[in-house]
Amino acid sequence: MDIKKLIGEMSLKEKVGQLMQLHGNFFLAQTAAELTGPASRLNISPDDAYYAGSVLGFNGAEEMMQIQDTVMKKQPHHIPVLFMYDVIHGYKTVYPIPLAIACSFDDALAEKCAAMAAKEAAVSGVNVTFSPMVDIARDARWGRVMEGAGEDVTLGCRMANAAVRGYQGDMGKYNIAACVKHFAAYGATEDGRDYNSVDMSERTMRQTYLRPYHAATDAKVRMLMTSFNTIAGLPCAGNKRLVTDVLRGEWGFDGVVISDYNAYREMIRHGAASDYADAAAKATNAGGDIEMMSATLYLSAEKLINDGRITEKQIDDAVYRVLKLKDELGLFDNPYRTADTSAEKEINLCRAHRDTARDAARKCAVLLKNNGVLPFSKNVGRVALIGPFADTGEIIGSWACHGSPNDTVTVAAGIRSLLPDAAVDVIPAVSWDIYADDITGIPNAVKAAKKADAVVLCLGEHQSMSGEGNSRATLTLSRAQTELARAITAANRNTAVVVFGGRPLELTSIEPFSGAIMMMWQPGTEGGSACADLLFGNAEPEGRLAMSFPWCVGQMPIYYSKLPTARPVPNSKIITENTYCSRYIDAPVAPLYPFGYGLGYTTFEYSAPTVSKTQLKSNDALTVSVTVTNTGNRPGTDTVQLYIRDKTGSLSRPVKELKDYKKVALSPNESKNVTFTVTENDLRYYTARDVYESEKGEFEIMTGPDSDNIQTVAFELI
Ligand code: NOJ
Repeated sequence: MDIKKLIGEMSLKEKVGQLMQLHGNFFLAQTAAELTGPASRLNISPDDAYYAGSVLGFNGAEEMMQIQDTVMKKQPHHIPVLFMYDVIHGYKTVYPIPLAIACSFDDALAEKCAAMAAKEAAVSGVNVTFSPMVDIARDARWGRVMEGAGEDVTLGCRMANAAVRGYQGDMGKYNIAACVKHFAAYGATEDGRDYNSVDMSERTMRQTYLRPYHAATDAKVRMLMTSFNTIAGLPCAGNKRLVTDVLRGEWGFDGVVISDYNAYREMIRHGAASDYADAAAKATNAGGDIEMMSATLYLSAEKLINDGRITEKQIDDAVYRVLKLKDELGLFDNPYRTADTSAEKEINLCRAHRDTARDAARKCAVLLKNNGVLPFSKNVGRVALIGPFADTGEIIGSWACHGSPNDTVTVAAGIRSLLPDAAVDVIPAVSWDIYADDITGIPNAVKAAKKADAVVLCLGEHQSMSGEGNSRATLTLSRAQTELARAITAANRNTAVVVFGGRPLELTSIEPFSGAIMMMWQPGTEGGSACADLLFGNAEPEGRLAMSFPWCVGQMPIYYSKLPTARPVPNSKIITENTYCSRYIDAPVAPLYPFGYGLGYTTFEYSAPTVSKTQLKSNDALTVSVTVTNTGNRPGTDTVQLYIRDKTGSLSRPVKELKDYKKVALSPNESKNVTFTVTENDLRYYTARDVYESEKGEFEIMTGPDSDNIQTVAFELI
């Protein structure tokens, strides 16, 4: 397609139409009257809607083709529409939430799930997914922590890379374009509240928050979404420094930039633009291409050009990027692309995808505590399955796209199919609702627990409590669930608490009396099967925390890679009486469970790390070796983690930073030597000179099974 020629033939109205994205509902309305409503809310006429270059939100191949036909017929040059959707952790087959996927520390698994999600989405008419979300998140109050890879930069970059590779592949038939979001630093939203402001130093932003977006652009992500938040007062949709200077200039990104939903208009609400025209000018001058679900540029482009506030060349460049993406996806040759109603039936929810969803849910679960309760014997005669998440498909997860709880294996169904001969009593007992404090169901549940050989207690927060717009000020389980846990664990010590949720929860109150706690997250379509596999030893738990679990919500934001304080507490795990140190008088400083933590059903022993040389030249590499031994009597997989600390720099450096990780599978008594390569590149940061560089001097390398349990070896950069 000769895109430049096409642009030369298009009217200004057509061109700015390509930069306007509307919801699929606009075109599915059966009557003009139905269309008038949504259109008038954007101040456009129903006819204007047909100029839209892209659509978000629609259901399946048939709707896609219908919309494509309708719009192309009316669009003067019959330009195909680009179809976008939030395929966040699956399309119909739903995989564990992204935060859980990050807990697998398994890049290949993350890539595979994204590739399968892309295949289902592609045959259902999706061209672009608004994923991955790579916002570093250190405050579990923020409901959207479920959509990202958690608190760490290295893990965040690797997961970003894996997701982009999985979705886009070689942009073949079953691939779709990815759109990394939310640029920038949305995860640092103040107070953990959605749509709130962000403020941070440029150094912290570059050092930490920008890196996963950069990893995604390095992986050749085709699109990027700017975020709702302001940074230092400037809404990101209008942030020229970020979009034009850093993203396009420094990183060389030549893909499409889209705003978040209605974000051009919201610049007015932020008080950073006076009206539609002002918002459109600021966003266009910042470097934005498509505006999602508003029409400010569409409505004011002509005037802005005449007034000299923007140029037609800027519009042409943006349109070029949009049309180029359409061309790369093959839409000019075949506007339906891979949308195909019969392939959709065959591929969506197919066995292979379900099997991977089950495998993923097993690998993402994190065993937080186990006093010998798990795994349960498969020979149990009677299982009591208690709690509000015992028999519901509403564990599939928040933002599950077109996945349905009805297609989801519940924990009860998973256990029944694994143990067909066992009697399984299901008693929800209490509600998950934080406002519901009816505990009259507890005595009945206690009775069932007493009769059972094994008790599975399914607690947590409902999927509707996390995701967009669902920030929490508390992170505890509801009072009724806590009461239930106390009563059931007292009635039968052979109880495993299984926790569902989209964020780290505050489990401090139930931890002391729980014999076993397994974090299942929001595990997707095969959540119940995976849960049964883990509880009854058909699979070994191997997930490790991608976010610290707080001791209490007041510790937020909590993360392991803090700068050292000059006045540390003597022991971060207990409340100290020492004054004038960096303490809480009513809580320990350490989290309940640290980043990288997780148990298996076996035990591992780590040797001290050794280095191939104690002095590293800047053009050289050193090898770090550590021997890991399975000292238990079951097979297991551990995640060997490598952290580095720069002991003295021109600036204070974090107490440790994850630089690499490797998974190692070991049979009982087996040992393996795991090696890592460290180069000068791993030691760089934004120094006092504002340059990304390393500084000579002493460094510590730490290896171990989590961020807290480490052994150290030193070397010097010369
Ligand atoms: C708003 C969300 O912030 C964004 O992540 C999402 O992609 C869009 N809505 C479209 O649904």
